[in-house]
Amino acid sequence: MSLETDKYNFFKPGEQWRDTDNNIIQAHGGQVQQLIFTDSKTGNTVKKWIWVGEDKSSGARGGIRMYSSDDLHNWNSEGIVMRNVPSREALENDEYFKSVYAGYSEEQLDNVFRSLDAGSAIIERPKMIYNEKTRQYILWFHADGPTDTSNSSYAAACAGVAVSDYPFGPYRFVDRYRLNVCPDNQKDMHPSSKGMARDMNLFVDKDGTGYIIYSSEENLTLYISKLNEEYTYLETSPDKAVYGRDFIRLFPGAQREAPAVFEREGKYYLISSGCTGWEPNQARYYRSDAVFGDWENMGDPCVGDMKHTTFDTQSTCVFKDSTGRYIYMGDRWNSKNLSDSRYVWLPVKFTQDGNMLLEWQDKW
Ligand code: GAL
Repeated sequence: MSLETDKYNFFKPGEQWRDTDNNIIQAHGGQVQQLIFTDSKTGNTVKKWIWVGEDKSSGARGGIRMYSSDDLHNWNSEGIVMRNVPSREALENDEYFKSVYAGYSEEQLDNVFRSLDAGSAIIERPKMIYNEKTRQYILWFHADGPTDTSNSSYAAACAGVAVSDYPFGPYRFVDRYRLNVCPDNQKDMHPSSKGMARDMNLFVDKDGTGYIIYSSEENLTLYISKLNEEYTYLETSPDKAVYGRDFIRLFPGAQREAPAVFEREGKYYLISSGCTGWEPNQARYYRSDAVFGDWENMGDPCVGDMKHTTFDTQSTCVFKDSTGRYIYMGDRWNSKNLSDSRYVWLPVKFTQDGNMLLEWQDKW
């Protein structure tokens, strides 16, 4: 796609999408946003669209990759921004890992390996936010894998965090955490495993407060938890967190995942999928006047989606383009060949009452 004439100038949902080096884009379960930063190569201040997502080029397990763009159509690969780790030794022998994890103790390196082990770690749904106070780029993701007591690939059920001074990394993995727990006076839908965090997303409100939105209680209940000022951990640790101030639980037992939150004209929207693994299912969105407000079930935003499968996609992000239009980003997973999972981006429409509508487009 290096020739001017080969440039994309439209979206073709579900079609193969290649980067400017003609490689298939690998940024699944991702997020798109526009940021202004200093380009490390030229020293110039630039404004770029940034797409972060899962690199599934070698199947279920991979690192986190980024792309940059001026027009949302043509994407330049910025490479793997957080690498998974081939072996414990690599953290001490490989130049890249030695420089990224310089200063880490043996114990910290053990944790990096356990959390990012290329052979066993699940690294999904990465989302990045910029922290203006610390001038750091903070990457959160679904960090999963086996534990000391379970061989299941999704036993850890944690949220992982990594940081960088530059949008395109390298991101240094900090830690992975279980998050808030159901208060004693509410009905925990999965009391045997506390603080689980799987499918996740981030949202920064107009006042700069950051939130992590995630499936907990064995994916039966969504949680929204407030992040600290640095966006690197919760505002209050789970043992001291106060319900309604530090976190809320949403729709206990409804089993929603793949959450994506955005704000429009003072209303907050949360779009979600059901829980059917890589298979698509019917979307449902909720609306509220505040992040920690009452979220109303608004149903399925899709129009003309005969199969009730969100046009064969699962939500991952909704963002606003430079014309003020909202764009839905969905993944069309291919469970037989995850690397060939496709991206389905669709324009979001709103009725006068602020109801969200999603309609299929072959090309737009
Ligand atoms: C989905 C989830 C994906 C991935 C998949 C694995 O429910 O949204 O991110 O974890 O399950 O089966």
